[in-house]
Amino acid sequence: MKENDVELLAEIARFENSHDMEKEFKIGWSWRHVRVWPATLSRLFKDGYLEMAFRSNSYTGYRLSELGQKLMAGAGSEEAATQSTSDEPIPADGLFGDIIGHDDVKELLRACLLAEKPVHVLLAGPPALAKSLFLWDIERAAGERAIWLVGSATSKAGLWDVVAERQPQLILIDELDKMSAADTAALLSMMEGGRLVRAKRGRELNLSNQLMVVAASNRLNLLSPELRSRFAIRKLTAYSRIDYLTVVRGVLVRREGLDQELADEVARRLDGVSQDVRDAIRVARLAPQLGIDKAIKLLLGE
Ligand SMILES: Nc1ncnc2c1ncn2[C@@H]1O[C@H](COP(=O)(O)OP(=O)(O)OP(=O)(O)O)[C@@H](O)[C@H]1O
Ligand SMILES: [Mg+2]
Repeated sequence: MKENDVELLAEIARFENSHDMEKEFKIGWSWRHVRVWPATLSRLFKDGYLEMAFRSNSYTGYRLSELGQKLMAGAGSEEAATQSTSDEPIPADGLFGDIIGHDDVKELLRACLLAEKPVHVLLAGPPALAKSLFLWDIERAAGERAIWLVGSATSKAGLWDVVAERQPQLILIDELDKMSAADTAALLSMMEGGRLVRAKRGRELNLSNQLMVVAASNRLNLLSPELRSRFAIRKLTAYSRIDYLTVVRGVLVRREGLDQELADEVARRLDGVSQDVRDAIRVARLAPQLGIDKAIKLLLGE
């Protein structure tokens, strides 16, 4: 059972208690009613906390199983169960363990994740500086409290609907500079908090529960001044030669599974030739077939 499953089940129990299930949801409720992602419901079903009341191509209706109801009874009042987990801060200890260096960025992000009110952070800078890795690590720690978006591929549903559906505590946006104008406009108002009403569908979104945004972007000049102003902007600068060596050694050993000696060798040979960690990863991957020198020569024309 995942960390916030109890919270989800409590929400579902509250939903069931506030409706006449026999009358209104004879065929069970769907993910839209309880605002829980279908994949999550399917997992809770497999784990036995839900049962399937109805299934067709277009509708899957669930209700709490006996096990799910028992668990909720054991968890005390639903209100208390909901309260106890949804307010919990995202665990910041041990976060970013796979990122080498960037100590001040780690400290800033940890503090922001623990802050009572949101401080939005934008990581900006050239490629291959672990910006996306920061977002991934936060997503892993936050689980379903976070939604992850890539600016160049924002979902068809649009940011507004995704946020209304999922009610996240955190929005993680990679490639912020590529986000659509509509999503950017929605984001601007969401970042200010409060109660928002979407004019088009009259759909209300209550953001009193403090939404934090962490984003990454290569280019700052493509962002509007009002969007930039809403973020604490952390500019990451290209690695110095010493940092590059340390990062390459670490990445090749920890993520690419090279032994220390070979990783050192790749790092040394690339010193002064490239500043891009992705080059080192490519060299390491081709080295078994080509040897390090040849791999560098063919890949980089050096
Ligand atoms: N400090 C670091 N610690 C660990 N891995 C790193 C570090 N810097 C770079 N990397 C590695 O470099 C690669 C690129 O990292 P990542 O995708 O996070 O970069 P990015 O800053 O998002 O780049 P882009 O702007 O191109 O999207 C990854 O394989 C990552 O593991
Ligand atoms: Mg990236």
